[in-house]
Amino acid sequence: MTQQKDYDVLVIGSGAAGLALALELADQLKVCVLAKADLDETNTRYAQGGVSAVMDPADSVESHIEDTLQAGAGICHRPAVEHIVRHGKEAIDWLQSVGVPFTTTTDERGAKVVHLTQEGGHSTRRVVHADDATGLAIETTLLERVKQHPNIELLDWHIAIDLITLGKLGTTPDRCVGAYVLDRRNSTVMTIRASWCVLATGGAGKVYLYTSNPDIATGDGVAMAWRAGCAVANMEFVQFHPTCLYHPKAKSFLVTEALRGEGARLLLPNGEPFMQRFDSRAELAPRDIVARAIDHEMKRLGADCVYLDISHKSPEFILSHFPTISQHCKTFGFDLTSEPLPVVPAAHYFCGGVLTDLAGRTSLPGLFAIGEVACTGLHGANRMASNSLLECLVTARSAAGAIKSQIVARPRLPTVPSWDESQVTDADEEVVVSHNWDELRRFMWDYVGIVRTTKRLERARRRVHLLRNEIGEFYANFRVTSDLIELRNLVQVAELVIRCALKRKESRGLHFTLDYPTVDDRNYQRDTILRAGDFG
Ligand code: FAD
Ligand code: SIN
Repeated sequence: MTQQKDYDVLVIGSGAAGLALALELADQLKVCVLAKADLDETNTRYAQGGVSAVMDPADSVESHIEDTLQAGAGICHRPAVEHIVRHGKEAIDWLQSVGVPFTTTTDERGAKVVHLTQEGGHSTRRVVHADDATGLAIETTLLERVKQHPNIELLDWHIAIDLITLGKLGTTPDRCVGAYVLDRRNSTVMTIRASWCVLATGGAGKVYLYTSNPDIATGDGVAMAWRAGCAVANMEFVQFHPTCLYHPKAKSFLVTEALRGEGARLLLPNGEPFMQRFDSRAELAPRDIVARAIDHEMKRLGADCVYLDISHKSPEFILSHFPTISQHCKTFGFDLTSEPLPVVPAAHYFCGGVLTDLAGRTSLPGLFAIGEVACTGLHGANRMASNSLLECLVTARSAAGAIKSQIVARPRLPTVPSWDESQVTDADEEVVVSHNWDELRRFMWDYVGIVRTTKRLERARRRVHLLRNEIGEFYANFRVTSDLIELRNLVQVAELVIRCALKRKESRGLHFTLDYPTVDDRNYQRDTILRAGDFG
C-alpha cells in the first residue's frame, strides 16, 4: 500500500515562483511544496543580475513595456507585458517587506533607495539587485519565511513523476487532482491529492550539453503538463546567455550581464572589440544578438572562447559591485580586476513552456503553471534580462488570487489508485540511462543550438524519436529512479523544442535558422502552439 497525502494546494517547485505562491496562499489554505533536491537548489538561487522593475521616478512603465516588446521581436502578448510590468514595483515592495536585502544607495535628496543596475535591452537603469547574488538573497529569505509557516509542509528530495488527472482515471470533465511523487530518500512512490496543483518547476537548460542552469533544470513541468494534455507554446525560443566562464571545471558559471551594464567589453582573442560590428548597442544589445555574434566570431576564428574585460574599472569598483563573481573567478585562477575573462555562450532560459493566462491557469482545470515553466506571453521570442524573476513574482501573486477565488466552488477529491509497481523490476543496465542522457544533450547542442538549419533539426528529430522509444520501453519495464524520470522528461522537452523549431520557417528572436534567415511577419508573427494529439 503506498502512502497517500492530501492538501489544498500542491506546489511543485521551491524557487521564487513556488515559494512566493505558497506564502500568498498559506493563510487560507494547506499547502505542500515539493523540491526534487535540496530546497534551495533552484535556478532562482543562482540568479545574479537582479529583478527588473520601474523604481526610478525618471523611468516609466511605458518605457519598460516598450523595451520588453522590442526584445520579444514582435510576438510578446501586450496584455501580459503590461500586467507584469505594471506590478513590478509592487513585487519589489513585497520582497522588501518579507526581508530581501536589496542593495541600496542614497538619492540626491539623501533618501535611501534601491540601487539600480543596467542590463541588455533596457533603455535605462532598472534592475534591482542584492550585489551580484540577487537570487540567493531572494531564495534564502523566502525559504526562511516559508519554513516558519504552520500551513506549509516542505518535502525536499521528492520528485513528481506525473500528474494525476480525472481524464486518466476515466472520468470527465478532466481536471488535475494531484501527482505521483518519488521519495528519493527511500525510493518509494507516494500519491499526493490536492484541489489545485501548481507547476513551479523552472527551466530545462539540462537538455543542452552546456548550460548556466543547475542539475535540477530538466523540464519536468513542461513534460508532465504535456503528458497530461496541456497546450505548450514557443519551445523553439531557447535563450543562450552570452557569457559563461570558459574553464573545464567551472560548469558553465554565469558571468552576469550587469558586468557589461557597468562597462565591460567583449574582446576577440587578439584583444579587438567586435560587438559594434553587429549592433549599434554593442555589448548591451539583447542577448540573442550578443550570443549569435560570439558564436559567429568563435566559428570564424576557430576560437574556443572570447573574452570579457572590465579591468579598466578600479579594483574597488569591481570588488564592491561583483564580490561573488570576483571570488568565484579567483578559485579558477582569474583576476577580474586585472585581466579579461574567457567566456562562451550556454543554454540559459526557456521563453516557451506550458501555455497559461495571466494568472497561471493552464488549459487543464485545477492545474496552474508559474515561473520559468510557463509561457505567459511576456517574453515573446526573446526574454529581456531580469524579466524572469519579475514574472515569477507577479504571476505567483496573480495565481494565488485566482486559486483563492475558487475556494468556495472546489470539487471533491476522487479516489486515486496507488502507484503500480507489480509489473516492473530493477533496471539491469543503468548504462542505458547515462548513455542516453549524454547523447541527447550533445545532439541538442550540435543540431538545435544557437544557429539552426532544417537539415540539422530533421537529424535531431530522428534521433529524439529513437531515444524516446527506447526510454519509453525502459520506463515501462523497470522501477523508476530520479535519473530515469528526468531523462524521460528531457527527451520529451527536446522533442517539443525540435517540433516547434521545425514549424517556424523564419528567423525571429532566439530562433535563428540559416535556411530562413529573415523575419516573416506575414506567416509567423504568432506563437507556436502545440496541443495534445497534434503530431505535425
Ligand atoms: P526554479 O527557481 O528553477 O525552481 C524550480 C524548482 O522546481 C526547484 O525547487 C526544483 O527542485 C523543483 N522541481 C523541478 N522539477 C521537479 C519535480 N519533478 N518534482 C519536484 N520538484 C521539482 N532571471 C532574472 O530575472 N534575473 C537574473 O539575474 C537571472 N540570473 C540568472 C542566472 C542564472 C545562473 C540562471 C540559471 C538563471 C538566471 N535567471 C535570472 C533566470 C531565473 O533565475 C529563473 O528563470 C527563475 O529563477 C526560475 O524560477 P522558478 O521559480 O520558475 O524555478
Ligand atoms: C545575468 O545576470 O546576466 C542574468 C540575468 C538574467 O538572466 O535575467
